[in-house]
Order: sequence, then structure tokens, then C-alpha cells
Amino acid sequence: MDGWILGLESTAHTLSYGAVLSNGQALPAATDTIRPTVGGIHPREAADHHRDVADNLLTKLLEQHELSLSNLGGVAFSQGPGMGPCLQVGAGIARALAAAHEVPLIGVNHCVAHIEIGRSECDCDDPVLLYVSGGNTQVITRLDGRYRVLGETLDIGIGNMLDKFARKFGHPFPGGPVIEQHARAHLDAHPNATLDGLELPYAVRGMDMAFSGLMTAAVALVQKGAPFDAVCWSLQEHAFAACVEVAERAMAHSGKHELLLGGGVACNQRLRDMCTIMAKEREGSSHAPPRIYCIDNGTMIAQLGWLELGAGRTTSLNESAVDPGLRTDATPIAW
Ligand code: ATP
Ligand code: FE2
Repeated sequence: MDGWILGLESTAHTLSYGAVLSNGQALPAATDTIRPTVGGIHPREAADHHRDVADNLLTKLLEQHELSLSNLGGVAFSQGPGMGPCLQVGAGIARALAAAHEVPLIGVNHCVAHIEIGRSECDCDDPVLLYVSGGNTQVITRLDGRYRVLGETLDIGIGNMLDKFARKFGHPFPGGPVIEQHARAHLDAHPNATLDGLELPYAVRGMDMAFSGLMTAAVALVQKGAPFDAVCWSLQEHAFAACVEVAERAMAHSGKHELLLGGGVACNQRLRDMCTIMAKEREGSSHAPPRIYCIDNGTMIAQLGWLELGAGRTTSLNESAVDPGLRTDATPIAW
């Protein structure tokens, strides 16, 4: 393959440019995330943010890795799923760069990119993926040439649930890391902590999950006087146990032995530890990529673009419309 691949990520709150060299080597991305101080993320405000930072961020990536657009080999972008206005900013930049430099355009599936960067960084072969991010919570594995969703959230993504809970108590986005710190503080203060009095609803529904009831019940616990640290700990224990339970069943059903974590919530050390324990009990293994590749990043988009281009797949201009509802299993695995 000639030249390096640029990857553009813009599905939600983050604009990120990443790069993969022609030999497949992944380079850390240049990333900028909108962090509203009040309220959640408005798609159009996020899109405006992405437009504002786009130029400087690309320059930053090029300078950081001494890359030049003159030997660009292709431009990959997140085609979906995500927020329409945000996706359109990334797609617009990608089309313009590909046209200006006369290189192939490659529209990729954001969820599949989370899987592939994990597979390559962790050297996994055929894992069950536990994909836990703000907008998505899915248990996925490869069957008959596609990544199939074996179980997923029926309401909100686990990360959105954590963010909403944190926001109720004055902690701005992203709430997940704040909850992790408070949960750890609870365990430091109470090494023999139990869940007595901190029980929350069961979040597993067959092979699916549901998190909004968990959040409402956790908010009510704090309002009834339970310490915030203790509820953060209980919320993590219940929500992560649900994900690990579904992932374990997916491993049993599919007969696979590797578990791979992906998505922003996979930054959480407690979740990583629970997955390690579960996989060990099944005589399997659990893997998690470096945290810079768990959160949304342009490198994973570049890496999937590199794989797809290597398999001969590119995206013509008239196929390059964004698809906010793109499903994980809509993308054939051609590589
Ligand atoms: P997607 O488009 O895949 O849904 P996303 O837009 O939600 O992704 P990510 O960067 O994958 O973006 O994930 C962000 C989420 O990860 C936020 O909800 C954030 O609170 C959560 N998160 C980040 N770090 C941690 C952590 N240490 N513990 C728990 N959650 C975390
Ligand atoms: Fe993501």
C-alpha cells in the first residue's frame, strides 16, 4: 500500500484525527472533545465545535508525527453510527481531503473500528467483544463473515447512564471517571464493604441489558441519604456485573475463549478486573487495549480504513452519505 491512511472520527462529542502508516503501524491520534459544563451534548453544538477545531487539530496530528499530506494514501471516516450533524462534519472534511489529494475515500463502521483496533493492539484472534461506550453497549462476535450483536442495551448506553447519574449530582461530562474515583474512595474507606442496603435493580434481560432503571434507583438511593461514594460503587458493581454476565453467556454459546473490551467505559479498572476474573474462571483470557484506543479516536478509524483498503474496498462519493443508525452487523468483514 502506498502512503499513510488518515482516519477521522466525529460520531459524537469528539473530533479526532489518527494515522496508520502503510505498514499498518498505528499512531496516537490528535483529539478534541466538547465538554459542556451544564446539560448534555447537543448534536449541533458538538458539530460546531468540530468545525471550529478541525484545521488546527489536523495540523497538530501532522506535526506530532512529522507526516505530510503529500504522501497520503487514503482518507477513512466514521460513516456511522452516531449523531447526524457530527458525522456530517467528519464526512465533509474527509471527502474534501480525499478529492484534493486524489486518494481513495473509505467510509467505515465506528463500532467495527472499536473491535479491530482492540484486536490488533491486544493481538486477539477471534474474541467476544464487550463494547461499552456512551452511546453503545453491545456484546459482539464474529459469525459467518460479520460481527453479530448477541446482546445489547434495550434503552441507554452504559456510559450515558453513568454520565447522567454524575450530572444529577453536579459532575460534568464525562461522569464515568468521576464515578470510578468515588467508588474507589468508598472501598478505600470500607475494605469489607457489602451491598446490603445498596441493592439496585437487575439489569439483565435475557441476552440484553437495560440501564435506565438502575440509574433512577441509584439517584433515589442518594436522595434517601445513602453516601454518594457508596452508591457510585454499587452502581458500578451492578452495571458491570450485568455486562460481564451477558459476555460470559456469549462466550459459552459461541465457544470462544477470548474476551476483548472496547469503548470509553472499558477505561474503567474495576470493569477490566471483573472481566479478567470471569475469563480466568472459564480458562479463557480477557484483553483491553490502551486507554487512548478505548475512547473514541481517529486511529481506530484509520486502522479499519487501512484494513478495508488492503481488501480492495473504497467508498465512492455517491455511497459516502453518513448513516446515523448504521448497525454493527451491516458491514461485511472483507479483510
Ligand atoms: P460511541 O459512539 O461508541 O457510543 P462515545 O461517543 O460514547 O462512543 P467513548 O469515548 O467511546 O464515546 O466513551 C465515552 C464514555 O466513556 C463516557 O460515557 C464516559 O463517561 C465513559 N468513560 C470514560 N472513562 C471511564 C471510566 N474510567 N469509567 C467508566 N466510564 C468511563
Ligand atoms: Fe465509540
